[in-house]
Amino acid sequence: MEFSIKSAAPEKLRTDCLLVGIYEGKKLTDLAKALDAVSDKAISAALKSGDMEGKAGSSLMLRQVAGVTASRVLLVGLGKADEANLKSLRNSVRAAVKALPAGVENIATDFAGLSIKKTTVQQKAAAVAEVVLDAIYKVNAVKAKSIEPHPLKQVVLLADKADAAAAEAGVQQGQGLGLGVALAKDLGNLPPNICTPSYLGKQAEKLAKEYGFKVEVLEQAAIEKLNMGSFLGVTRGSEEPPRFIVLQHLQGKKSQKPVVLVGKGITFDTGGISLKPGADMDEMKYDMCGAASVLGVFKAIGELKLPLNVVGLIPTCENMPSGRATKPGDILTSMSGQTIEVLNTDAEGRLILCDALTYAERFEPSAVIDIATLTGACVIALGHHVSGLFANNDDLAKALLAAGEQANDRAWQMPLWDDYQGQLDSNFADMANIGGRAAGSITAACFLSRFAKKYDWAHLDIAGTAWKSGKEKGGTGRPVPLLVTYLLEQAAK
Ligand code: BES
Ligand code: MN
Ligand code: ZN
Repeated sequence: MEFSIKSAAPEKLRTDCLLVGIYEGKKLTDLAKALDAVSDKAISAALKSGDMEGKAGSSLMLRQVAGVTASRVLLVGLGKADEANLKSLRNSVRAAVKALPAGVENIATDFAGLSIKKTTVQQKAAAVAEVVLDAIYKVNAVKAKSIEPHPLKQVVLLADKADAAAAEAGVQQGQGLGLGVALAKDLGNLPPNICTPSYLGKQAEKLAKEYGFKVEVLEQAAIEKLNMGSFLGVTRGSEEPPRFIVLQHLQGKKSQKPVVLVGKGITFDTGGISLKPGADMDEMKYDMCGAASVLGVFKAIGELKLPLNVVGLIPTCENMPSGRATKPGDILTSMSGQTIEVLNTDAEGRLILCDALTYAERFEPSAVIDIATLTGACVIALGHHVSGLFANNDDLAKALLAAGEQANDRAWQMPLWDDYQGQLDSNFADMANIGGRAAGSITAACFLSRFAKKYDWAHLDIAGTAWKSGKEKGGTGRPVPLLVTYLLEQAAK
């Protein structure tokens, strides 16, 4: 996708389709007024006919508008003018792109110049670019006939000369983020016989080559040497070898402590010996979406050349039953030395993450954020709209909540109080890996907190937000927008 900024007269633009906003109540935007003036009121006439009110999500295609060079003019409903915000802009862009007929390869619009309170041109341009990329995304389906990419190839953003630089910066940002989101979706959507731990390792190496990251992909023997007994307990039942991926984007000052991102990379979760029920088990291919989001963030910050030090850690393996698999009752010794009684082999995410959290200590991080499709209980608590957030530091939690708000990728903070820790007591080891049915996502976070005592830490449970089920089944790329927005904020400090 090619984005460009132009300050040309809109009626003279050569484009397949000009997107023109209309506010609710048939209220014309500046661009609509300009076109109305040169076209002998073609726009007002279309509105008068009653075909379009300007309601959010609506659109009306006009062809051969007199005095306008563009082949088509798509009137796009923006909703109420006095309620316009970044979210309504995003929704309008999405509705407009979805309404484009197949013949449209390039479009132009003034959407980055619409007036929205307390919002910069850069933010608006970034939102437009990001949403366009999100809306044209197509699943990399494995079919005999390869799938045609979306026909849209070029987007021109109309901006005043004075705003051109800000719009350009916004487009760069939105595009970098959009590419990261697309990578996270792609990896999540791949079938689990292709997207294996070694495949994720290769993807990390490919990214490192492309953007100059430092990369190490540790194999079984190196993982054994690190004494990651908890992680190794999960991979035991699988024929597919595990990997531990370490990616480093070192574009900050040498003295600057890094942000460490840790992504759960279970490429398929059968539950292990505590086998899951059969219905919808295919969706457990998405159990590596935490890992995918870390790789997506690296793609975005590589594109953006973000001046910050960021480390990505990905423990990745399958969770399978077999004659060698870890059994309920087995006790594992984690890299930290703490022992864990495995009461349920389906609570495997925390078992691979805890060793990665211990490994993170060596980077003397400014903050560690883990991202994981960790608990079904989180879906019950929060549904599919927001990710669950837990943190041992309130400033870090606040910064992440604010980033989610800004990125339209929200999280909601849940408690991490000591009251819940007792649910993890074990008669035979330092702790059990499950805490019973009550507060399942909180006790999972409590388990992780025991391995994150040496630094500021946050945990994002993305079980409800990382992918969609049903007819629209597919990865969402979340929480890449939240994380990239947080990192941009850190770099600006
Ligand atoms: N990957 C699952 C969590 C999950 C389930 C995410 C469904 C999204 C949808 C995780 O490994 C798991 O199985 N968790 C168990 C924990 C339980 C055994 C304490 C769960 O949530 O049931
Ligand atoms: Mn599981
Ligand atoms: Zn899992």
